[in-house]
Amino acid sequence: MTDLPAQSPLSLRGLSVTYGDKPALSVVDARFPHAALSAIIGPNGAGKSTLLKASLGIVQHLSGEIAFFGQPLAAARSRVAYVPQRASVDWDFPTTVLDVVQMGQYRRAGLWGRLSAGLRAQALECLDRVGMTDFATRQIGQLSGGQQQRVFLARALAQEAELYLLDEPFAGVDAATERAIVDVLRELRAAGKSVIAVHHDLSTVAEYFDHVFLVNVSRIAEGPVATAFTPANLHATYGGRLGTAPFGLAAE
Ligand SMILES: Nc1ncnc2c1ncn2[C@@H]1O[C@H](COP(=O)(O)OP(=O)(O)OP(=O)(O)O)[C@@H](O)[C@H]1O
Ligand SMILES: [Mg+2]
Repeated sequence: MTDLPAQSPLSLRGLSVTYGDKPALSVVDARFPHAALSAIIGPNGAGKSTLLKASLGIVQHLSGEIAFFGQPLAAARSRVAYVPQRASVDWDFPTTVLDVVQMGQYRRAGLWGRLSAGLRAQALECLDRVGMTDFATRQIGQLSGGQQQRVFLARALAQEAELYLLDEPFAGVDAATERAIVDVLRELRAAGKSVIAVHHDLSTVAEYFDHVFLVNVSRIAEGPVATAFTPANLHATYGGRLGTAPFGLAAE
């Protein structure tokens, strides 16, 4: 009997993306681990959001192969949830918090099926997990940025996916919200789910994440935080722009 490793929830081979003739990602390989919390880090404009969007087919890629659980996206779509970087969402759309969470359930509710009471209860439970139950009937546009962030995480939870792609889940949230989100991510991992998050705060990489992917147009390094999150790799990713703050870096 061979002991096969669990299928990678997202693997990339030679992924290249250009906007016009400007390369955003150049021949990127990646293999994110199963049932782990992975961080994608790199400077502004490094191609982090592009990596998620190209993987999901939201932007076209020039070349390369993308596999979710070893399959093309079309075969794995219901297993993947995505929360975009907040700035890219249209907040003027008039809808309630609970509606937004229930959007995550449409795939399971069926094309003609009305959302059942059971699904509604599950949506409320997802709001509870992110501490937003009291806001269920509020218009989404009337929430603060951090509250909106929690609601979009609740929507991803309602989807009951196996892989969660989160683009800067902690951007602009306060310490309490950040803790709440980290707790949810740890619950997901404990339940055997995988999370890949674009992350900017280098001081929390070692505390929050198991695996790190460093990118600046090209892949710089990838691996367990203990071995890949090194000063040399950070220098290669960020150049001289990084100070010497102690980030819980792995020894070299
Ligand atoms: N739709 C687009 N059209 C043209 N260029 C784009 C587009 N989206 C992104 N870019 C460019 O591609 C590069 C990578 O962008 P991307 O959004 O992936 O960066 P990022 O690593 O997520 O940065 P940030 O940390 O600022 O979110 C940037 O130079 C950006 O200006
Ligand atoms: Mg981005």
